[in-house]
Amino acid sequence: MTLDDKLGQMTQIEKDSLVPRSDLATHRIGSVLSGGDSTVSPNNAQTWADTYDSLQRTALGTPLGIPVIYGIDAVHGHNAVRGATIFPHNIGLGATRDPALVQRIGRAVAEEMAGTGIDWDFAPCLCVARDDRWGRTYESFGEKPELPTSMATFVTGLQGPTLGADPASVLATAKHYIGDGGTTGGVDQGNTQLTEAELRAVHLPPFQEAVRRGVGSVMLSYSSWNGVRSHAHKYLVTDVLKGELGFTGFVVSDWAAVDQLDGQSGFTGAEITTAVNAGVDMVMVPYDYKKFLTLLRGEVSAGRISQARVDDANRRILTKKFQLGLFERPLTDRSYTSGVGSAAHRAIAREAVRESQVLLKNDGGILPLAKGAKLFVAGKSADDIGNQSGGWTVGWQGRSGPVTEGTTILQGIRAAVTDPATVTHDRYGNGIDGSYTAAVAVVGETPYAEGRGDRPNGMGLDQEDLSTLARLKASGVPVVVVLVSGRPLDIAAQLPDWKALLAAWLPGTEGNGVSDVLFGDHAPTGKLPMTWMRSASQQPINDGDGKSPLFPYGHGLTYGATPDPDPDPEPTPSACTAQFRTIASWSGGYQAEVTVKNTGTGPLTGWNVAWDLGGSTVSSLWNGSLTVSAGRATVRNTAHNGALSPGATAAFGFTANGPTGTPATQCAGS
Ligand code: GLC
Repeated sequence: MTLDDKLGQMTQIEKDSLVPRSDLATHRIGSVLSGGDSTVSPNNAQTWADTYDSLQRTALGTPLGIPVIYGIDAVHGHNAVRGATIFPHNIGLGATRDPALVQRIGRAVAEEMAGTGIDWDFAPCLCVARDDRWGRTYESFGEKPELPTSMATFVTGLQGPTLGADPASVLATAKHYIGDGGTTGGVDQGNTQLTEAELRAVHLPPFQEAVRRGVGSVMLSYSSWNGVRSHAHKYLVTDVLKGELGFTGFVVSDWAAVDQLDGQSGFTGAEITTAVNAGVDMVMVPYDYKKFLTLLRGEVSAGRISQARVDDANRRILTKKFQLGLFERPLTDRSYTSGVGSAAHRAIAREAVRESQVLLKNDGGILPLAKGAKLFVAGKSADDIGNQSGGWTVGWQGRSGPVTEGTTILQGIRAAVTDPATVTHDRYGNGIDGSYTAAVAVVGETPYAEGRGDRPNGMGLDQEDLSTLARLKASGVPVVVVLVSGRPLDIAAQLPDWKALLAAWLPGTEGNGVSDVLFGDHAPTGKLPMTWMRSASQQPINDGDGKSPLFPYGHGLTYGATPDPDPDPEPTPSACTAQFRTIASWSGGYQAEVTVKNTGTGPLTGWNVAWDLGGSTVSSLWNGSLTVSAGRATVRNTAHNGALSPGATAAFGFTANGPTGTPATQCAGS
């Protein structure tokens, strides 16, 4: 291989950036991708397969005839392809607690991809979403590492027991390494501020499992760890992932992520060197490949990227191409093309939808509904394939409306009842009266992806949903809410008006899986993969953090069980925590600040914090009132602190003479 052959293998470009197509051969480009909005026309499996084969034939025309590897985000089915089966997004799959099912889904996705030739899936996302304000929460299987870890079976589904074991095997990608779901405030591509021990405990286990399962590629995260971008982090990528975990596949950067390293737009030779030397083997450029190759060649020629690093990257990439069988089977296996969107795959998807439903409330056992009931169905997502599929569906952001073929939740309801004429539908609830057995309101979120889905300013229902629900409530008819959303929403205030609440997540094309549960053809078995907040001000809220949720991680009712003893759990008594921080210390004294946080569910009108002074004496104190007895200090709130709302904080400080220590503080609320 010449140097140009090798540098080309480290280059991944967007299909639509290739002008002229012959550049694929001229520049020895090793990989092509379709980003979220990259498509073909007409958008069907046949056209995708023809496009893939045409690109591959160009690549095979090079002197060495090294095939390209083509990547795409098939994150909940082969979702770029119109007519493909769209499965529930990962948050719903996490609710199933069924790793074997997730492996079967991976296999079905691989078969639909194989039918279009595309051989590399940028999935699964093994992110551990810790703050539900994050726009990618729905791409996470759950908030506790053991849940995404268990769902790494998706890797085996995609690749097979060994990569390339059969013609439908596709390369899987564990992403995004590392800590994408742990950023402060749930800011997409933000900063994950954790100790190394916390980072390893929460965010590393899913990648360890994926590596154990032989995942062929790992995609890095845009996010930073304590201020250092993952794409620049040699310790995390080379020492931990490749060294300690023994990852032998190849590392790919995220879309134009290298451009972000110096904080300026565009990419430079220095940024390329930083990323490649950190351990990136293939750069998702994705557009200006000529500039990229010129800069990369310059960095190697200058010795800033060693030949050994180039060879290591090529060895990793080519090994996966060989194992995948690309050299033996470079073109589409058309025997799989007719299977795109097949009834068999849709049956698996419907099963996954059923198992992903989480029944959160069921007052008086109103569910399951009788198939002879007179029902009124409302809500913006009752009859909307786009809403029930969410982002990454025939377009990066997804969209409302008939984006692809499938069954809406309303269609599923009408197919399930004895006589469809007993089901009335109006999106806004207009026309409802007291004659109906029940109203089913299908509400929640419209599609989004990545940072556009970040919700730093509130996580409640939108005004349309609230108006529809008010109209239904006014009729006096019992209301069953089906929530179509990519995350838990802030609905505690509305919950008392609902007789039942079913979290449907983002079910995809098989909406009849929801009606299977509504009418009891399948009793709900789903369990919450994320703690359900009582208020958005509690975010981040996770199992074991001492906060009081509306519904805890793992919650999920079924039918025939004893009715929920407390369907609208009352707020728990005021609770608080106190965080002690030494601001300064000197010989013989120190200054400290204590932050009090309302971890309860109601306003905290008073608090007190007590701790052992450890022999020191408080010489001055601000923003609190102090009493000392038997060597223990107790500080109470002052009148001007006012009441603390749930999640809010207040701080007091003091100066003391004597030893510092870090006392265990106790906080009591009132
Ligand atoms: C996006 C996403 C990543 C995806 C890649 C290619 O920005 O962060 O998950 O695989 O670009 O579409």
